[in-house]
Amino acid sequence: MKKTSIKECRMISLPKEGSDRGSLSFLEGNGAIPFDVKRVYYTYDIPSGAERGGHAHIEQHEYVIAGAGSFEIVVDDGSEKKTFFLNSPNKGLYIAPGIWRELISFSSGSVVLVMASDVYDERDYIRDYEDFKVQK
Ligand code: TYD
Repeated sequence: MKKTSIKECRMISLPKEGSDRGSLSFLEGNGAIPFDVKRVYYTYDIPSGAERGGHAHIEQHEYVIAGAGSFEIVVDDGSEKKTFFLNSPNKGLYIAPGIWRELISFSSGSVVLVMASDVYDERDYIRDYEDFKVQK
C-alpha cells in the first residue's frame, strides 16, 4: 500500500453555474481532480447515527461530494487524522490511495456521491484497521 499522507487529501472546488433556475456543477476530464473517473457510486437513505467507510484503498483514488445534506469525513494515514466537513455539492474531498476514511455525522437526507479511479474490486480494500496500521 502507498505511503501516502493525509496532507494529500484536500477539498477541491468544482465550477458552479448559478441562475434563478438553480445551480449546476460539473466534472470533466480537464484535470479538475487528480485522476480519471471510471466509476460513480452514491450512498443515501443513511439512518441517523450510521457510520460508513471504515476502510482504505490500496490503489484507488476517490473524490467525495455531499450531493445533498452534510456529513464529516475523518481521514487517517496511520499517524495523523484530519476531519473535513462536507456540505456543498460543488466542493468535494479528494482522498488519495492508502488513506483510512470514516464517514460520520450524516444529516437527514444526505447523499454521498463518490467518483472513483477504477471499477469496484474488493481486493483493493483494506477493511481491518490493524492490517492497515501494519501496512503503513
Ligand atoms: P461498503 O464498502 O461497505 O460501503 P461504504 O464504503 O459506503 O461503507 O459497500 C457496501 C456494499 O456495496 C458492499 O457489499 C460492496 C458493495 N459495493 C459494490 O458492489 N460496488 C461498489 O462500487 C461499492 C462502492 C460497493
